[in-house]
Amino acid sequence: MGDSLHELNVRCGRPDVRFVAGLGDFAVAQLSNRFGVATVALHGAHVMSYVPQGAHPVIWMSEHSKFEPGQPIRGGVPVCWPWFGPDPLSRFGGHGFARLVSWRVAQTETAPGGETSIALELTDHMVPAEFEPYPFKLELTVTLGPALVIALKVWNTGDRTVEYSGALHTYFAVADAAKIQITGLEDCDYFDSVLGAAGVQRGAIVIDREIDRIYKGTSGICRILDPGFDRVIRVAKSGSTSTVVWNPWIAKSQRMSDFGDEEYHTMVCIEAANAPRADDCRTLPPGGRAELRQIISLEA
Ligand code: BG6
Repeated sequence: MGDSLHELNVRCGRPDVRFVAGLGDFAVAQLSNRFGVATVALHGAHVMSYVPQGAHPVIWMSEHSKFEPGQPIRGGVPVCWPWFGPDPLSRFGGHGFARLVSWRVAQTETAPGGETSIALELTDHMVPAEFEPYPFKLELTVTLGPALVIALKVWNTGDRTVEYSGALHTYFAVADAAKIQITGLEDCDYFDSVLGAAGVQRGAIVIDREIDRIYKGTSGICRILDPGFDRVIRVAKSGSTSTVVWNPWIAKSQRMSDFGDEEYHTMVCIEAANAPRADDCRTLPPGGRAELRQIISLEA
């Protein structure tokens, strides 16, 4: 049993961090400072929202999401770990168990420049035995400053080498997905999960159908050019050489019970991944540590 909201506020609350009851009664940390507001659910260490000061929300959340223990949240920033896509051992659902369980708040901090951060942690002891995890520790840090910085640290706390995949599976809010362009992946090779075929990106990405692609050899910056909201979202990253771009479009939206039929118009996912399909799984020796990071900001 985790801390109550009262205990969380006593232990880790501060003027710029409050713990409140969110949807489905999930405990949510509300970060708020001169740079904007961000919320993070303890369930899955899931970033639920990011609203830079004076701006339209940058992170998208489905109005049909479930907020139930053991279920993933639809929208925000799911932490996919220790596998991306299907379970390699075919036992459980996609994208790992880290997004299905409650994390513990390790600490909160206010930097001299006014940035606010929260760190949440998850260890093998906190995960249901059915998942049979190997010894590990994860720490997800969210920092609200001029950008939103999301960093997933992974430690191998066991005595054998492990291999994992994963992603920061960020859902971005757009005015009209059919009118945006995504730049930064020009000339990259990709695996198209809709067609089951390889391809090469020619020019900017436009969304005019279901898009589910794993771009390979990508470590640079992507931009979402959104004329409807008259803005550019900048998405930088480190610790990842694969980028997933996803919009379910019409038929897949209708098949997903936690996604509205028309919601595909207002979102697109750009995921900082360690994707198996892109030969980007990570190997950690005993005592080893790795970090996956996504840095999200608005350009003028
Ligand atoms: C993307 C995958 O990363 O996540 C898609 O490339 C998948 O194939 C999508 O549909 C959503 O996954 P889930 O498990 O959250 O429904």
